[in-house]
Amino acid sequence: MASRILSGMQPSGLMHLGNLLGALENWKTLQTEHDCFFFVADWHALSSNYADTSRLKEFTQELLIDWLAAGIDPNTSTIFIQSHVPEHAILHLLFSMIIPIPWLERNPTYKEKKEEITEKDLSTYGFLGYPVLQAADILLYKPDLVPVGKDQLPHLELTREIGRRFNSLYTPVFPEPKEYLTRFPKVLGIDGRKMSKSYHNTINLSDTEPTVRQKLKTMVTDPARVRRTDKGNPELCPVFDFHKIFSPDATRNQVDTDCRTAAIGCIDCKRQVADVMVERFSPMWETREKFSANPKQIQEVVEEGRKRASTVANETMKEVKEAMKI
Ligand code: TRP
Ligand code: SF4
Repeated sequence: MASRILSGMQPSGLMHLGNLLGALENWKTLQTEHDCFFFVADWHALSSNYADTSRLKEFTQELLIDWLAAGIDPNTSTIFIQSHVPEHAILHLLFSMIIPIPWLERNPTYKEKKEEITEKDLSTYGFLGYPVLQAADILLYKPDLVPVGKDQLPHLELTREIGRRFNSLYTPVFPEPKEYLTRFPKVLGIDGRKMSKSYHNTINLSDTEPTVRQKLKTMVTDPARVRRTDKGNPELCPVFDFHKIFSPDATRNQVDTDCRTAAIGCIDCKRQVADVMVERFSPMWETREKFSANPKQIQEVVEEGRKRASTVANETMKEVKEAMKI
């Protein structure tokens, strides 16, 4: 039997190229062979954005559009919204009864984020309990594999620990899901730092062609290449990373040589990469537009997803309640 896969994303902003090439490309491959559940973790987004919820619905909608445009197929995958399936909250509550607070306090992701994000008050219960909700998200569906990035490994370990604690306190209900590590190709932002929405240096899936071309025009290059006549080193240039990902070998090799001899200028080089990127993204942009113009279709997708997810979630909750004798 095909493995069950479950993964989620927070609707905490617009998706960018880094997310596409990492998570989404992976999901797309997985869905052809496995029983996949993909959900928008809108409650999780509240854990750090509780004070300003004004764009939560918009981000949720845009995220779903990005998934569908990238080729996540609602006929083969179950696509749903976390808050549409209240069992996530119920299991989270029950887990909160059995998880020792020190397990949460020593979570490295928690410590890092808390230090990193200083502009918000994150001394909340929900922020500390983020992994408890994530454990509920995961264990409700008893998946074999959970595709995540490296930063999520502590959360997955906690998920298994909570499951084990539940199983030993009551009766075995939960399996131990394994991570499926998402390999991210190196994608730098237009300022040459890691592409990240907090750096405001992203190319978004919802950007239009002129925006993508404009962003590439302003993208930093090999810093040593100041004048057109200066020779460059493509390995030090974030634009070349895009050539590596998107350009045919012949173009990439040509650019590699021509940059080193100053036979090509950065403006030309960027236009070439813009052209291949536009070609690659055009079908996605078209699908995006179709869905944007038809929100009802998305509602139908998540309604169907809610039904399928609820069926599984309810079965697990029945076992949980029996195990706990409640
Ligand atoms: N914490 C994940 C992230 O920030 C999102 C998430 C929430 C998730 N629940 C999940 C991922 C369950 C996998 C499984 O990326
Ligand atoms: Fe970068 Fe291309 Fe300019 Fe070389 S020619 S520095 S690879 S943008």
